[in-house]
Amino acid sequence: MAEGDEKRGSDMQGLADRVADIIVGSQVTLALTGAGISVESGIPDFRSAGGLWSRYDPAEYATIGAFRANPEKVWKMLLEMDAIVGQAKPNKAHLALGELEAIGLLDCVITQNVDNLHQAAGSKNVIEYHGNSSTLSCLRCGKRYEAKEKRGENPPRCACRNVLKPDVVFFGEAIPEEAMQRSFHLASSAQALFIIGTSAVVSPVNTIPSIAKRNGAKIIEVNRERTHLTDTLTDIFLQGNAGDIMPQIVEAAKMRKGGVTSN
Ligand code: APR
Repeated sequence: MAEGDEKRGSDMQGLADRVADIIVGSQVTLALTGAGISVESGIPDFRSAGGLWSRYDPAEYATIGAFRANPEKVWKMLLEMDAIVGQAKPNKAHLALGELEAIGLLDCVITQNVDNLHQAAGSKNVIEYHGNSSTLSCLRCGKRYEAKEKRGENPPRCACRNVLKPDVVFFGEAIPEEAMQRSFHLASSAQALFIIGTSAVVSPVNTIPSIAKRNGAKIIEVNRERTHLTDTLTDIFLQGNAGDIMPQIVEAAKMRKGGVTSN
């Protein structure tokens, strides 16, 4: 059972202090993030109530087979997401990870998100495990475009008239090799791993926590809900909004790094 299970609210500070101790003492600290970290930026996640998959069946809208069979249909969902992501700004959780990196307490963010918000929040070392939606590619001639060049086209088409595909990983597609290798390599040397806003049900990204754990890493989970990791791999579970919890951790870590302990 993860420490923190039975504690809420006022003891969150105690948990944040525990986490700060761990990351200040860690040589390699990573953060694995999912759609939950961008919910407070106005982007719905996938599997929560009202999430994207409650409105669009992923078997019909998120597999490479579905895209190849009927790209116009899939673009109906993609354009809706593009409009939301296009407006989104990084929130306090993204900014907190950017700050942890800047003060030398976070080595890399491995994100499942395709929204570019970690980079917009100042994170330099970001691995995009499922690609990025800010570029589009032609599956016929290989030409690549900035998504913003094609804004307003429905669906966006290549000069060769083929319908373009966003450079995100659809179900049934391979994970970018470099992203996968770098993530596994880092996980196998991690001493601390944040897992923020993910249900951790999608593979192979969801093998990263067990690789890190096998290496002795402390697993720090931040989520509104418990997940299948909470009672298995997680050492410290902080329940709530990432945008509320992550800044507390940054403050506690800065206190420690500054040599000031809270007790
Ligand atoms: N703060 C913390 N956690 C949150 C917040 C929040 N503000 N809002 C939602 N969550 C949590 C939910 O409780 C849930 O556990 O974030 C998690 C989001 O899980 P999913 O919707 O399953 O998203 P994710 O884990 O990123 O999905 C993985 O699946 O659909 C594919 O390719 C897509 O990258 C995606 C992958």
